[in-house]
Amino acid sequence: MGRARGRGKSKVRIMPDDLISHSLQVPGAPLVGARPKAPLSGTIRVPGDKSISHRALMLGALAVGRTEISGLLEGEDVLCTAAAMRAMGAGVERLGEGRWRVDGVGIGGLAEPADVLDLGNSGTAARLLLGVLATHNFTSFVTGDASLRSRPMRRVTDPLSRFGAAFSTREGGRLPLAVTGAIDPVPIEYTLPVPSAQVKSAVLLAGLNTPGETTVIEPQATRDHTERMLGHFGATVRVAPADGGGKRITIVGQPELIAAPVVVPADISSAAFAIVAGLIVPGSEVTVEGVGLNPSRAGLLASLEEMGADIAHLNKRVEGGEPVADLRMRAGALKGADIPPGRAPSMIDEYPILAVAASCAKGRTVMRGLAELRVKESDRLAAMVTGLAACGVKVAVEGDDLIVDGDGGPPAGGATIETRLDHRIAMAYLVLGLAARSPVAIDDARPIATSFPGFVPLMNRLGAGFPEIG
Ligand code: S3P
Repeated sequence: MGRARGRGKSKVRIMPDDLISHSLQVPGAPLVGARPKAPLSGTIRVPGDKSISHRALMLGALAVGRTEISGLLEGEDVLCTAAAMRAMGAGVERLGEGRWRVDGVGIGGLAEPADVLDLGNSGTAARLLLGVLATHNFTSFVTGDASLRSRPMRRVTDPLSRFGAAFSTREGGRLPLAVTGAIDPVPIEYTLPVPSAQVKSAVLLAGLNTPGETTVIEPQATRDHTERMLGHFGATVRVAPADGGGKRITIVGQPELIAAPVVVPADISSAAFAIVAGLIVPGSEVTVEGVGLNPSRAGLLASLEEMGADIAHLNKRVEGGEPVADLRMRAGALKGADIPPGRAPSMIDEYPILAVAASCAKGRTVMRGLAELRVKESDRLAAMVTGLAACGVKVAVEGDDLIVDGDGGPPAGGATIETRLDHRIAMAYLVLGLAARSPVAIDDARPIATSFPGFVPLMNRLGAGFPEIG
């Protein structure tokens, strides 16, 4: 197609793989969170949204032309996606901090990767890419770290097989797996059995290189970044109410995706740690700038506000097609709340840090309908029950509900928490340590780099006082 790949002569070209090893130089294990000498204060901006960053690289690689991305999250998860798209023939180049250029190959234009695609810790990279691969007629081999290799993949391989893709997986449908994309894909209509944006996105992305119309029915709304970004790149996506509630999302197959610039807003799932820290460390006042407030992601704020949190939404605006605002938190008393199951998809990654807030609140917080937490980077229900109990918090799981009874004072703390290759567990307990009576240690801080490189220095700018290594 004669595309210029921008293989720069004068610019130093940093490979995604180089960045992975750089980002591993964040503080290693263990790390301790302890009460700071003074309240937290100041203004920070957290890195770009992980979900949007993965999608920008994938759709950029499938578009015709050159996509410029700014604010891309340079966490290991996203760098795995960058490396995978490059391995399949897209031009993926880093221009500067958060600024990336993707030269796309067009829908159906990816090439067989010469080696195994290693997606590290990233469920999003794995599941969305399997969707892309399901309708590219070559064979690829996909693996990940011990956490990703333990996570369920049938939730995507089942619907993707119906397009005509063939999968050969390890016991239980797990990674590593081999996928051979359909030669003549057939469009499907699929009702999500679990509320999962990853499954929805895998099916829609498979539908991209399938003639006809592919439809996903989601009984419960999940994050809609894939639909938004497909539209942004010129695909036709129709969203209509589904019979019996929820949404019917239809993609018209085999469009030409046109390269389009993407501005990635700050990730509310990363901001969550600074937000809660600003609320539970007495006397604090913290502002996090430019936080993405897509309604399908903002459930944490509704929950914290029901708990009495003082959060001001300042300077509301639209950036890169997503609503954003600067959030200013002032610490104060929190009270228990009943968080309904219907809210779970809009804050699915925020339950560990919400449970930390609940353990500093007065009264009972019930977080309902959390079955999906068992299959995240770790079993987060187990991680929260075990870890909070070790920190002296009254906590229980009943069915799929997590129940925390706070007495309004700081938890005891004084425990070492197993990180379980889970970045959000690591960050949640470090934040708990900022409020607890005794410090809280985690056994391994390295997983933080999957989603939030710079967490330690950024929190330290607010006065968190985490020890910095190297
Ligand atoms: C994501 C969807 C969520 C979330 C994950 C990112 C995405 O997973 O937990 O961190 O980018 O689509 P599920 O959709 O499987 O719940």
